[in-house]
Amino acid sequence: MRWIALPLLAACAPTPCPEPTAESRSAESSSGGEARHAHHGRHEGHHHGEGMQHDFSDVARFEAMFDAPGRARWQRPVEVVGLLDLTPGETVADLGAGTGYFEPLLAAAVGPRGRVLALDSEPAMVAHLRERAQAEGLTVVEAREVAVDGPGLEPGSVDAILVVDTWHHLPDRVAYATKLRDALRDGGVLLVVDFTLQTEQGPPVSARIAPDALVEELRAAGLQATLVDETLPDQYVVRATR
Ligand SMILES: C[S@@+](CC[C@H](N)C(=O)[O-])C[C@H]1O[C@@H](n2cnc3c(N)ncnc32)[C@H](O)[C@@H]1O
Repeated sequence: MRWIALPLLAACAPTPCPEPTAESRSAESSSGGEARHAHHGRHEGHHHGEGMQHDFSDVARFEAMFDAPGRARWQRPVEVVGLLDLTPGETVADLGAGTGYFEPLLAAAVGPRGRVLALDSEPAMVAHLRERAQAEGLTVVEAREVAVDGPGLEPGSVDAILVVDTWHHLPDRVAYATKLRDALRDGGVLLVVDFTLQTEQGPPVSARIAPDALVEELRAAGLQATLVDETLPDQYVVRATR
């Protein structure tokens, strides 16, 4: 509920995302698990180059936030995955896959002949992604640990790439985007979702990226990028094609 957000912001700014305070955790549980507030909070990490470094190793803690039942209300994952225009048999990479929130929908979109590459630089998240895919019978999901500075994808090997709430963590973003462009097949789609500058949840405003700046980063990497019309209340979406 929105009234919780202002005290949280006051308590946590200017701090990077997403590190819940004890207050936010109890607020989430008492308000029905609102993942709206998952990206607020006190932060123990630090800026590193352009990317915001953060410790994501406490999987259980982040699972409670990223997979909170209320997240769908603001994340609108069906709408987000729809913007990828996936067809059965395609290969999609989810960069910064986290706890695997998007994997069931991505797996459904590419079907049994497709592939979902769930990429994350945090080994504990990757182990969790692997266990979760197995437990949920998502045989097309392959969890991979990747380097912080690159997705480790073969040139032209993927049809689409999804990056949710992760772009602001990447180092040297134009160089990183160039690697993503190279990984896409011709006509492939890169979809980046991140928090608006104005919304009450998300990383501290100083760490956020303005939509136009993100479009420019992707264009500088040689992609054709545009801001998408969508209905997400707290985020914007940039769609880029190779
Ligand atoms: C805020 S979480 C978002 C998780 C997921 N996309 C979601 O929407 O639920 C960011 C994730 O990106 C991962 N990450 C951060 N920097 C990364 C990098 N340079 N390369 C790959 N993954 C990264 C973190 O380990 C974390 O799991």
